[in-house]
Amino acid sequence: MTIQITGTGSALPEKIVTNFDLEKLVETSDEWIQKRTGIAERRISAGETVSSLAADACRKALEMAGKRADEVDLILVATCSPELLLPCCACQVQEMIGASCAVAFDLNAACSGFLFALNTAYAYLHTGIYHNALVVGSEVLSKLVDWKDRGTCILFGDGAGAAFVEASAEDIVRDNGRRAGMECMVQGSDGTKGMVLSCAERAGNNAFIPENPPENPYIHMDGQEVYKFATKQVPACIQDALDRAGLAVDDVDWFMLHQANVRIIESVAKRLRADIARFPMNIHKIGNMSSATIPVLLDEWNRKGSIKTGDRLVLSGFGAGLTYGASILVW
Ligand code: COA
Repeated sequence: MTIQITGTGSALPEKIVTNFDLEKLVETSDEWIQKRTGIAERRISAGETVSSLAADACRKALEMAGKRADEVDLILVATCSPELLLPCCACQVQEMIGASCAVAFDLNAACSGFLFALNTAYAYLHTGIYHNALVVGSEVLSKLVDWKDRGTCILFGDGAGAAFVEASAEDIVRDNGRRAGMECMVQGSDGTKGMVLSCAERAGNNAFIPENPPENPYIHMDGQEVYKFATKQVPACIQDALDRAGLAVDDVDWFMLHQANVRIIESVAKRLRADIARFPMNIHKIGNMSSATIPVLLDEWNRKGSIKTGDRLVLSGFGAGLTYGASILVW
């Protein structure tokens, strides 16, 4: 059996917000932001929504895979910033693209969301419950960001990416001898550190208790704790996935990491003793889009032809929860 990605797509808001634009909002500088994060600009919604971006990304992924929307079995949208609590974003996407036969639901694992959704789709496809899935990461974080907090507002952006995943009964072997498709996955969560990166929803409010609005309804982050977690946990879980698959770092062509901070990615590369050239990055122009960063990066690298058939990829996400994971697949 082969479970592989056969189409990718992405969608970004048109509005570009540069570091120089942020200099007008908070006490910061382009130099500080670039040096500490690698980010130069990000896309910010001027009306685009989590569902509209997700639907655009899905249409592109389906087009690449050569599939009609009514052939889709399962839609999984990873998001922590839906525009509606009910219905879920995946059902909105189902309606928007006309995927009339699909089962659709959301999943929230913050910046690990796309990876966890991909692994969930893998489980459904592997057991034969469904034969294909649209897996999406979509976020409009700009509405969750405190634009007066220079420690967080410089980091985040909006956007969506999607992958169409298909199962086929036969094993597909590439010219280089590698078996195509998903090979191995590792996932982890540490709820004890949940509050180092958090965002409140509504506080308890019903007919029987006084209204109790959250003190801070925006993203709240202990940047250094998140940094320490990422630089330690991400290389460890990638190594764990490689060990489980019986692979070495040199067997991997591309390490596609969640785009949170260039320094985190450089540190992971160093700890794994892997060439940084094998860690694609696009964070400088789109910032951290939480669950959307990995599928947007994958789509960019795929569309420009950088990923060749038979290449081995490690996808690795990490973020609020805390959550983390790594998946290995052959293109
Ligand atoms: N512009 C200028 N100065 C800033 C600033 C900004 N945007 N944000 C913070 N500072 C200041 C701080 O106030 C502090 O000043 P002080 O020394 O006078 O107190 C100084 O810069 C250093 O702050 P610190 O928080 O130690 O910076 P840092 O090197 O840890 O960088 C982050 C901050 C947020 C860039 C970094 O911690 C980080 O990237 N963490 C991971 C965050 C992340 O990836 N989150 C998402 C995970 S999915």
